[in-house]
Amino acid sequence: MTEATTSSRTAMIEMIKVCKKFPPNVMALDDISVSIANGEMFFLIGRSGAGKTTLLKLLCNMERPTNGLIEVAGMNINQVTGNKLAKLRQKVGVAYQDFRLLTDRTVAENIAISMEVSYKKPQIIRNRVKSLLSQLQLEDKHDILTGDLSRGEQQRVALARAVANSPTLILVDEPTGNLDATSTRQVMELLIRCNNSGATIVIATHDEALYQHSTHRIMKLHNGKLESLTRGDGRGWPSVAGARDSAGATDGSGDEI
Ligand SMILES: Nc1ncnc2c1ncn2[C@@H]1O[C@H](COP(=O)(O)OP(=O)(O)OP(=O)(O)O)[C@@H](O)[C@H]1O
Ligand SMILES: [Mg+2]
Repeated sequence: MTEATTSSRTAMIEMIKVCKKFPPNVMALDDISVSIANGEMFFLIGRSGAGKTTLLKLLCNMERPTNGLIEVAGMNINQVTGNKLAKLRQKVGVAYQDFRLLTDRTVAENIAISMEVSYKKPQIIRNRVKSLLSQLQLEDKHDILTGDLSRGEQQRVALARAVANSPTLILVDEPTGNLDATSTRQVMELLIRCNNSGATIVIATHDEALYQHSTHRIMKLHNGKLESLTRGDGRGWPSVAGARDSAGATDGSGDEI
């Protein structure tokens, strides 16, 4: 998207002068300020240890900043409590770098969790689980315990779980680290469908294949500092830009919390 377009859209994420220090003296993030628009797809890159996972953990409230302000959907996420915090959590889907699946539950049960928590009808949940498994070519794994899956399969289940409840914000940490080229493409197509349906998406990755043909914005971190931020023009990937929604993501309004 153009700079003008970016600034004219509401921000989904605002980070202002954010620092995160881990004891004894690790500056994992140092004075990071960035605004990510509602409906934007945004890449976060940088070498191992650069601070990518830390930034995503701050955005989903798993870690608190040492300094600075973080707003998600217009709310200071470090001050939200009670019902508002529960609602905010329902609007954020996270695919963790270490998956965090319930390994003694089936694939279908793992993917269904966020929808069950928000009281979706059983038939809707069943259909959504089947659709996601089909998009990721995991149809035959529906009833398998996730602990018995390969790492690449677990990675895709973690992504399916993150997007299942059509969150307005999707945070994805190294979504393709264990995947072959075909599975990588399926993962990206699913994320693009979610984005086309309005979801804001932040992807942390080492995998150049994910962003080298994209014109979305790319933020590069180095030792916790912002090294560069490309502007991007929002045209995305010409070959899959028309991939519209069987992902069934959100209206992306992000203002219902
Ligand atoms: N809980 C913690 N306690 C102490 N140090 C931490 C903690 N979490 C992260 N760090 C440190 O913060 C820095 C940034 O880590 P982070 O996991 O964010 O990097 P990353 O960019 O995601 O790396 P990778 O590409 O390997 O996943 C690293 O130096 C890491 O060792
Ligand atoms: Mg990481």
